[in-house]
Amino acid sequence: MARSPVLNVMVQAVMKAGRGMRRDFGEVENLQVSAKGPGDFVTAADRKAEETLFQELSRVRPGYGFLMEERGVVEGTDPDHRWIVDPLDGTTNFLHGIPMFAISVGLERAGQLVAGVIFNPVTDELYTAERGGGAFLNDRRLRVSGRRDIVDGVIACGVPHLGRPRHDLFREELSRVQGRVAGVRRFGAASLDLAYVASGRLDGFWERDLKPWDIAAGLLLVKEAGGFATDAEGQDAALARGSVVAGNEQIHGQLLKLVKG
Ligand code: IPD
Ligand code: CA
Ligand code: CA
Ligand code: CA
Repeated sequence: MARSPVLNVMVQAVMKAGRGMRRDFGEVENLQVSAKGPGDFVTAADRKAEETLFQELSRVRPGYGFLMEERGVVEGTDPDHRWIVDPLDGTTNFLHGIPMFAISVGLERAGQLVAGVIFNPVTDELYTAERGGGAFLNDRRLRVSGRRDIVDGVIACGVPHLGRPRHDLFREELSRVQGRVAGVRRFGAASLDLAYVASGRLDGFWERDLKPWDIAAGLLLVKEAGGFATDAEGQDAALARGSVVAGNEQIHGQLLKLVKG
């Protein structure tokens, strides 16, 4: 598998941030934690990883702009390129010692996602994708699942928690989906939910009220693994609208219908 120079830059940055995060995970009880809102935490590990990613990416591509979860927008001098960074996706899992979290970095060129990297530093699983170049888990090429009927499918979702909107809407969606599928899962890291769809571990995933950094890299992974990832209306606008329905062509269509009701 040949990676482009820019994908190599992303992989190096993410691996470096991942090494620090693995150390922090081992000492999570000593980490500084603060709440940004109800049920919404940020730790020193989020901030350290974001700083490492910012330093590494801006050293190698000085003009590119950033959209980052913790620091927000940093304008670049190159209007065509923007990194979309979630330094720690799955902070709640991290805080609870649950090894289901990841670093997620996407790259936009002229408003189009062209590269994505998602790394779980505990399992050492590195997901990469480039527009037109396929999706990979470490060195293995990925393909979405081959199941054609959602009754055989395992589907992940996001559950709105304290401080999040639209609890009733989620309950309605879940009640339509749960009786029609082989299993429903809630893992708590949207980037990995999408990476698992890309790798065929999950047949589908849906969630609302996400941010661009949760899903930028994952959306590209799913598409490059031959899957479909749209917003909850079926439009190609998940990044802008923050809702996602993902799966292979058949499961995506069936899940979309159930979610829409
Ligand atoms: C969260 C995770 C989670 C999703 C939340 C996100 P964070 O990101 O992706 O799975 O349900 O909506 O905010 O805050 O841990 O980076
Ligand atoms: Ca967060
Ligand atoms: Ca996130
Ligand atoms: Ca985060």
